[in-house]
Amino acid sequence: MSSPYDAIAELYDPWSASVVEDVGFYLEEARRAGGPVVELGVGTGRIAVPIAADGIRVIGVDSSRRMLDVCARRAALAGVDLDLRAGDLRDPPVRERVPLVICPFRSLLHMHTDADRRDALAAVRRMLRPRGRFVFDVFTPGADDIALTHDRWLEREPGIFELARWDEVARTLTLTVRGPDGETTMALAWLSPGEWRSLLEDSGFEVEACYGWFDRKPFTGGDDSVWIARKG
Ligand SMILES: C[S@@+](CC[C@H](N)C(=O)[O-])C[C@H]1O[C@@H](n2cnc3c(N)ncnc32)[C@H](O)[C@@H]1O
Repeated sequence: MSSPYDAIAELYDPWSASVVEDVGFYLEEARRAGGPVVELGVGTGRIAVPIAADGIRVIGVDSSRRMLDVCARRAALAGVDLDLRAGDLRDPPVRERVPLVICPFRSLLHMHTDADRRDALAAVRRMLRPRGRFVFDVFTPGADDIALTHDRWLEREPGIFELARWDEVARTLTLTVRGPDGETTMALAWLSPGEWRSLLEDSGFEVEACYGWFDRKPFTGGDDSVWIARKG
């Protein structure tokens, strides 16, 4: 199984260094649920390590072995145990039943079709205990953002560049990331918040909250949406 993230596993932490606003939010959700928590698309443990450091067991699933290697290293440095498993978020290798599944930092946009999204949501539902919660965030780009960034190299962090190519008809973003030690191109597919809500409801979830940001302000429009869904 190869993944576009393999080539940037070592670049991922410097690339996402300024993304910190969601860590406290997911930690709060984990504390509320207790453990174990399953994180789908655990990446390098940006969210999982702080949760585990709080004494909560985390099972982290990712399709990139190199991201999992970096994650294991980060966990060891922090002195915490993570239960890391290679696998796909549509069919995660998790038999446990847990009170909370999270999918932070837009990882669900790696699902490109409704069939993929439904498979992922069905897998989440299977892993959850009765009334367990699924918490995730996604984005839906606005026209301004697209116009501002389309087809332009932007330096996101010192020495790390991004090129976004937006297709508003297919609703896909083809994103290239380039740094001193690696480069990759990946595709992300977006939906409207209304479509996410319908998919959740069709897949047996009740939407408890849809926030517009990690400070829990209600969603009233904008690019980001943060969802709390309960297994119905
Ligand atoms: C944007 S990163 C998020 C990483 C981490 N959750 C964070 O918040 O920093 C997306 C992660 O999802 C993983 N991923 C992408 N597609 C996947 C799939 N089909 N199954 C499992 N993991 C996947 C990638 O390898 C990557 O580690």
